[in-house]
Amino acid sequence: MWVPGASQIPPSTKLCIKIILALLCQGGLCQEPVYRIQVPSRVTAQQGLCVLIPCHFTANFESSGVPYKYWFLRDDDRYTSPAVATTDPGRNLREPGGRIRLVGDAPDDCSLHISDVRAGDRDRYVFRFVKGDFKYSYVVTQPLVDVTELTEQPVLGVPEVLLSGQLVNVTCQAPGTCSGTPPQITWTGGFDYTARNVSVALANGSVSYSSMLSFTPAPGDDGKELVCTVTYPAVVGVFTRTAVRLHVGYPPELLPRGNCTVRGRGPGGAATCHCAAEGNPPPRLEWRLPNRTLPGHFEGPELRATSGARGPAVSGELRGPAGALANVSCAATNAHGQSQAALPVVPAGTGDRRGLGRGSSFAFS
Ligand SMILES: *[C@@H]1O[C@H](CO)[C@@H](O)[C@H](O)[C@H]1NC(C)=O
Ligand SMILES: *[C@@H]1O[C@H](CO)[C@@H](O)[C@H](O)[C@H]1NC(C)=O
Ligand SMILES: *[C@@H]1O[C@H](CO)[C@@H](O)[C@H](O)[C@H]1NC(C)=O
Ligand SMILES: *[C@@H]1O[C@H](CO)[C@@H](O)[C@H](O)[C@H]1NC(C)=O
Ligand SMILES: *[C@@H]1O[C@H](CO)[C@@H](O)[C@H](O)[C@H]1NC(C)=O
Ligand SMILES: *[C@@H]1O[C@H](CO)[C@@H](O)[C@H](O)[C@H]1NC(C)=O
Repeated sequence: MWVPGASQIPPSTKLCIKIILALLCQGGLCQEPVYRIQVPSRVTAQQGLCVLIPCHFTANFESSGVPYKYWFLRDDDRYTSPAVATTDPGRNLREPGGRIRLVGDAPDDCSLHISDVRAGDRDRYVFRFVKGDFKYSYVVTQPLVDVTELTEQPVLGVPEVLLSGQLVNVTCQAPGTCSGTPPQITWTGGFDYTARNVSVALANGSVSYSSMLSFTPAPGDDGKELVCTVTYPAVVGVFTRTAVRLHVGYPPELLPRGNCTVRGRGPGGAATCHCAAEGNPPPRLEWRLPNRTLPGHFEGPELRATSGARGPAVSGELRGPAGALANVSCAATNAHGQSQAALPVVPAGTGDRRGLGRGSSFAFS
């Protein structure tokens, strides 16, 4: 044990101090040891990411000589083993390249940083300080670096609902902000896209790794899965991924062949109008008569309307006397827009010869 000013004290006095200290300790009055280290006894690190072991220590900094800090593994030999990290240029390192390094310039800072964490980093670590004659290994707390599988997932920034035909940018942010080997971010999805590296350097020297994907969704992309995979090339077999299902919204589109067929002659004949539309979310149908508008479901003395949805498609039927249904338009509406068309009146039994092309005979509004 080092005692302040011990070198000037005669041996007999030294012995006395030792005895007094021993008695005090036995009496439970022993205060904290003279050399302290403040370091967590255990830190958990995920494979592929990095970990900081914050550390401060007290020592005889007044001793003459160049100060050197060392971190060893618990079972290393302090005199012959290569260090895990050190400020001593004369000491060999287990692994050159700075993957494990001392950070913090303050004389009493012993913080250790490990990047590209791998399973083999799991160990107890011991800090040692040397300054001239002063040499001390802080065995009282030997922090355990516990290494777990990578459980963090990339964070995806994707709008809740994408709009068909409109360019969208989605981002994927890799877990961790490590200064080690940059992770690789890749995208999978069944559509054309371009991806760009949009990583940003943070003020403290670490990096937030992100990729931005730009694409123009089509109605057919609704329900497709978009996956962002992040691999950590420095550590074999370490990757993480996040998947989202895309919701692609689009305004209603009226399907061709909407019409009103008439059975029987004159205004008393029975007319049936059909109209179908598709959109996401599924649209709501409306029937527009010259002086009134009927909803998709309607039950009146003369007129009756019904409608039903199947997936993104909605179809409706309106029945009534031919006179009342001489000039009917069908309108389909959802959150993204509206489409409307006048329905042609066709005599029953003319077959499909006058089938309408998509958008050709229809006047979309
Ligand atoms: C997507 O990113 C590109 C390139 O940064 C930008 O020009 C465009 O305005 C962005 N579009 C949207 C919808 O954010
Ligand atoms: C992305 O950019 C960051 C910082 O600008 C860089 O460190 C990294 O290597 C780049 N990644 C790729 C795959 O180009
Ligand atoms: C750097 O800053 C980021 C965000 O501010 C933080 O999450 C990260 O832990 C910091 N890294 C270090 C090594 O201090
Ligand atoms: C009229 O509508 C019905 C029912 O949708 C359809 O089967 C038929 O082909 C249409 N007729 C014409 C001429 O478009
Ligand atoms: C149908 O009604 C609209 C107004 O609702 C009107 O502009 C149009 O001329 C009418 N068409 C026929 C054939 O009556
Ligand atoms: C709609 O117009 C017709 C004639 O064009 C008329 O007989 C009927 O009463 C009107 N209905 C309403 C609700 O105004």
